[in-house]
Amino acid sequence: MMQNPAPALAPGSGGATTISLAPGRFAAAGRSITCPHCENDVFVPGIMPLEPAGIRLVGVNPRGRQSVLLMCADCTRLLWFGQMPQRVGDAMIRHGQRGVEDVGHRKSVGGLWDQMGKLQFEFLLEQGLKPHHYLLDIACGSLRAGVHFIPYLEPGHYLGLEKEQKLIDAGLQHELPEALRQCKRPQLVVSDSFEFEKFGQKADYALAQSLFSHLPPSLIDDCLTKLRPHMAEGGAFYATFFESAVSRDVPERVHDHQRCEYTQAQMLDFGRRNGWEAQYIGNWNHPRGQVMVRYSPVPV
Ligand SMILES: C[S@@+](CC[C@H](N)C(=O)[O-])C[C@H]1O[C@@H](n2cnc3c(N)ncnc32)[C@H](O)[C@@H]1O
Repeated sequence: MMQNPAPALAPGSGGATTISLAPGRFAAAGRSITCPHCENDVFVPGIMPLEPAGIRLVGVNPRGRQSVLLMCADCTRLLWFGQMPQRVGDAMIRHGQRGVEDVGHRKSVGGLWDQMGKLQFEFLLEQGLKPHHYLLDIACGSLRAGVHFIPYLEPGHYLGLEKEQKLIDAGLQHELPEALRQCKRPQLVVSDSFEFEKFGQKADYALAQSLFSHLPPSLIDDCLTKLRPHMAEGGAFYATFFESAVSRDVPERVHDHQRCEYTQAQMLDFGRRNGWEAQYIGNWNHPRGQVMVRYSPVPV
């Protein structure tokens, strides 16, 4: 993660003004700023003299006029402004319900609404998902993928589990047309402790998109242990994660927006020690670089 740099001085009309160069969320002319390339909304600010000579990414030229740039913290695209945009939030979205309230049900699950929804849908179709299968969408959020799976699957065959009631409510209210909901009857459970037994139905396919990328090892173990008895024979569970080349310390504290990275070996081991065969799939075109692992229940 980026460290917060020390504040820098930006000259105003009457002298120097202190601004923070810490990463954050910004607005200009009353509109929040998002990256036109990747839709991320966290930027690292910098100051730059307008003179073409002596361009510096971060610095002060007390004699000259300045422009401000924001570098996208995700894809590094640079955006230019004539004045410092207003800082409207910290870099990290707040955990849980407060984060949903702060940034809304689309952004709090990562933005890229259409792209990430379709990507998950097309991926599982390639893996053989058919309308008669039961799909368990673990940490389904505000139905970013659900809006594609629910119309495709037979009525009652979409099982969504999510810990934030507000996300489920927003998904049903704003993303899924009422007629579709009535006709397809998705089964939705709000739970933060992987209570898969509440569905009363085994899953042929399960998906955890961008869940293990934010969980400590103890909760990944918990999810895999509890899921194992609720998978149909021959079923498959696909999970995404941020891959690291070396094993890293992951804090046991839980925060929806912390980035947790694991090695390939760690991800395979999570499965094997909880009753699963594990297979590394790797790249599946995730725009932020999460890779995929497949877990198959070991027959008992
Ligand atoms: C990055 S979002 C992804 C949501 C969804 N899979 C998608 O792709 O749109 C991660 C989701 O995991 C949920 N989550 C985190 N821990 C959870 C848990 N223990 N049980 C259920 N949901 C959880 C969060 O509330 C959030 O909705």
